[in-house]
Amino acid sequence: MYRDKTCGELSLSDAGSKTRIAGWVQRVRKMGGMTFIDVRDRYGITQVVFNTEINPELQEVANQLGREFVVEISGTVKERDSKNPNLETGEIEIIADNVKVLNRSEIPPFTIEEKTDGGDDLRMKYRYLDLRRPNVRRNLELRHKMAFEIRRYLDSKGFLEIETPILVKSTPEGARDFVVPSRMNPGEFYALPQSPQLFKQLLMVSGYDRYFQIAKCFRDEDLRADRQPEFTQIDCEMSFVEQEDVIDMFEGLVKHIFKYVKGIDFTEPFPRMTWNDAMRLYGSDKPDIRFGMPFVELNDVAKGVGFSVIDDAELVVGIVADGCASYTRKQIDALTDFVKRPQVGAKGLIWVKFEADGSIKSSVAKFYTPEQLQAWGEKAGAKPGDMLLVMTGDAMKVRKQLCELRLELGNELGLRDKNVFAPLWVVDFPLFEWDEETQRYYAMHHPFTSPNPADIPLLKTDTGKVRATAYDIVVNGTELGGGSIRIHDAELQDQMFELLGFTPERAQEQFGFLMNAFKYGAPPHGGLALGFDRFVSILAGLDSIRDVIAFPKNNSGRDVMNESPSPIDDAQLEELQLKLDIKD
Ligand code: AMO
Repeated sequence: MYRDKTCGELSLSDAGSKTRIAGWVQRVRKMGGMTFIDVRDRYGITQVVFNTEINPELQEVANQLGREFVVEISGTVKERDSKNPNLETGEIEIIADNVKVLNRSEIPPFTIEEKTDGGDDLRMKYRYLDLRRPNVRRNLELRHKMAFEIRRYLDSKGFLEIETPILVKSTPEGARDFVVPSRMNPGEFYALPQSPQLFKQLLMVSGYDRYFQIAKCFRDEDLRADRQPEFTQIDCEMSFVEQEDVIDMFEGLVKHIFKYVKGIDFTEPFPRMTWNDAMRLYGSDKPDIRFGMPFVELNDVAKGVGFSVIDDAELVVGIVADGCASYTRKQIDALTDFVKRPQVGAKGLIWVKFEADGSIKSSVAKFYTPEQLQAWGEKAGAKPGDMLLVMTGDAMKVRKQLCELRLELGNELGLRDKNVFAPLWVVDFPLFEWDEETQRYYAMHHPFTSPNPADIPLLKTDTGKVRATAYDIVVNGTELGGGSIRIHDAELQDQMFELLGFTPERAQEQFGFLMNAFKYGAPPHGGLALGFDRFVSILAGLDSIRDVIAFPKNNSGRDVMNESPSPIDDAQLEELQLKLDIKD
């Protein structure tokens, strides 16, 4: 045994006892005749003392230790004279009587402490060192704890965890697939699963009425803070259920995990909002409802004075920033610059200040009388001291832009506290989404999502208006999960494929196995998938899911540590009978 205690467990009650620890040298401090060494392992940090008066040779060995050397140290536990309340083991230290260097280390490229001097890229290149940092380690511990508890909870509800294949059939819907060439079947490819969607539906046909899987999923899409090319879902499916049953079950899971991790009790049902309201009031299908600031539509009070920016716009819409009439020119300019950034893409920002003394100031004062602007304020519910910010344009575009501004203001005004959690179900999504470029409908969720039964008559006549039986769970403006009740009727599924522009042959070719399975008694079924990485990062209060993934990819989809993706040998290509034709 290299150790009998970890670096995180010694306390005052061990004082006087002999002990042996092993770990990495975090820091060496020489002070007069003493050398202090902080030894770190997964569990914590323990201070070790070498004293020249007690053992000069041993102190000399200690003086030669460098950062990240692996050491085994034995000694006697002693109460510290000056205690460190910031350290679990801060009440004790070990007076060393032996030190063994188990391995040496080169000088690490950054300091391996909670606060490090290493930039993002450097830490990703040396991720195995980054993972030694206690804050990164805590994230992975939380991830483990959550995965364990989710399994326990779902098991207690009768769910079976069933693995599904990683090499699957490529299907054209959804994001882009990652594909894998088959050596044994030249010219043919597998895809990596974007989700286990079809398999879990097949499991329902097979009678496994409560399935779950903590499943790896792969999507070749543009990356963002909450998107990785490979990520993990808590993927679930149930038979003989309606939307309410699914929502009920997984709201239960989410509440349980909030209580388990954060001690937060959500005693009320999570609020619900229709997709239409979410878009109308917050310009987003994942509104952050930690704060208000809903959109106010101003077409009726603002149009008709001959000001083309407003008159020609499809939608004039604003938000009230409470108490912001005191904003300076500079602050307003900064907001205007924000909305003009290419990521937001607005042309400009109109502001109206309702001063505490009742006067009104505005960037459009030369087009409107104070009374007219007062009418805007009344419509928007602005009080003296508030500022109304208004944007104009095509309805869907301007809503998205104002959504960005609302979130930015929320940040600025401190309304997006990471310790406040505001879950929300968004329901009644549209079944279809029209794509201008390809001039066809796409399934907003996926092609197996059931229409709202009340809207089935509209399928042919008013396709865009049909609501889906689909729901998303949103927390603090992040889409945590989504799901739907599925179509289990082969005829309705055929109709759906037709509306999505599939010929019967193509539908058969792509999804024939599912369609065939449905001929043999498919039960009514539905489910959802929660983004596990997102769930962990929300609870850890992090901005990016990268921090809860042991070995993440960067924004270009690269693992800069092992330098993948990378070219493969000509021999490998030949074996796969592949030729490259790389365009610059
Ligand atoms: P959906 O595509 O909505 O649904 O995905 C479910 C959840 O997975 C998470 N997620 C991601 N997390 C990190 N990186 C990504 N690139 C990424 N993409 C998605 C999100 C999202 O809410 N099969 C359906 C579920 C169902 O209908 O049951 C599906 O995959 O948190």
